[in-house]
Amino acid sequence: MDNFVFYSPTKFVFGKGEENHAGKYVKEFGGSRVLLHFGGRSAEKSGLLDRIRESLKKEGLYIAELGGVEPNPKSGLVYKGIELCKNENIDFILAAGGGSVIDSAKAIGLGALYDGDFWDFYTGKASVEKTLPVGTVLTIAAAGSEGSDGSVITHEDGNFKRPCGSDLMRPKFSILNPELTQTLPPYQTACGITDMMAHVFERYFTNTKEVEVTDRMCEGILKAIIQEAPKVMADPDNYEARANIMWAGTMAHNDICGVGRQQDWASHNLEHELSGLYDCAHGAGLAVIFPAWMEYTLEHNVMRFAQAAVRIWGCEMNFEYPEITARAGIKALRGFWKSLGMPLNFQELGAKEEDIPKLLETLQIDGRTEGGFVPLDREACEAVYRLACR
Ligand code: NZQ
Ligand code: ZN
Repeated sequence: MDNFVFYSPTKFVFGKGEENHAGKYVKEFGGSRVLLHFGGRSAEKSGLLDRIRESLKKEGLYIAELGGVEPNPKSGLVYKGIELCKNENIDFILAAGGGSVIDSAKAIGLGALYDGDFWDFYTGKASVEKTLPVGTVLTIAAAGSEGSDGSVITHEDGNFKRPCGSDLMRPKFSILNPELTQTLPPYQTACGITDMMAHVFERYFTNTKEVEVTDRMCEGILKAIIQEAPKVMADPDNYEARANIMWAGTMAHNDICGVGRQQDWASHNLEHELSGLYDCAHGAGLAVIFPAWMEYTLEHNVMRFAQAAVRIWGCEMNFEYPEITARAGIKALRGFWKSLGMPLNFQELGAKEEDIPKLLETLQIDGRTEGGFVPLDREACEAVYRLACR
């Protein structure tokens, strides 16, 4: 196990009706002038925004509002939010929505206290030293941004989708009410489940030896998701299954499963080019890329893939030909994502093979590699994209 520092200061408030106390938590973390940030129509339609507004007013907090965050959040609205925060002396951002709204809030928080262009943080030109505090009311179990140190924004000037991360960006609090996820369309529920599984796999495939605790935590979370996912797909109002999926999504990505071990993340970065170019759902893009990445990297450590197949999917170990077991695990993963309604190749996603040079260009892969488990150069990234076309 490698040395590590694990810092996850977010206060998680879990359960029915907890969004009605949002104002109390904003106050607890020093907020008085709040930017309420949200997405399209879902949070207004469900009455969530009204409940949050009421809770903020009850605590005597000033409220400014900025809605309209799109999936794969864009830089344009971030700039608008930064200006609003500066003009209105905002001291706390409350994000009500999914990963896109939360990531947009995190980006606004960075830009509001910075004299330059917020995009500097996403290109590595500037490092994060301060940010406005962010709290969240989560409405979809998926990206894990409610507990993560990251934010992913698409710059419209060339469709660059880039991540930025710092422990300072972890939310102060996150309210997780599983009931709020019951209004999700099945496709979004499935995309979220796919994304959280990918977050665990990105950590599971490692070259670090003797990481039994985190291996077993990864396997446990994946097994719970595999058990609970069909229940929420069959019955969207199943509170207990929604609750398990919601907590799994947070635990999959606050890095409790990734400490003390090298991680990969090539699949995520390859996927970000897909959702950057086509504006597809991130989880759907991962369903296409991840199994292709697995096939490409399988030979690097067949036994780790075989272990995943046995422990997660219950495949039988073939000691003579472990590759057969390893491949059975990948097949099981594909079958599972297909059963949720996920696309499994470029065509099903609406992506085009002839766009691969474009994807490689925005990935800016020349002269560097992607991924920790197996470093992929340009040629290797292209090979993964090609495998994803099949
Ligand atoms: O805009 P509204 O109307 O709210 O609709 C949203 C959106 O269309 C809808 N939705 C959300 N909650 C709902 C709901 N519809 C009905 N009922 C509800 N309760 O769902 C759609 C997708 O929302 P979005 O926020 O985009 O989903 P998700 O949470 O999957 O976030 C995806 C974004 O997060 C990034 C992805 O790249 C993508 O941009 N990621 C962020 C990470 C992080 N910050 O740590 C890590 C991830 O790997 C990921 O890259
Ligand atoms: Zn993800």
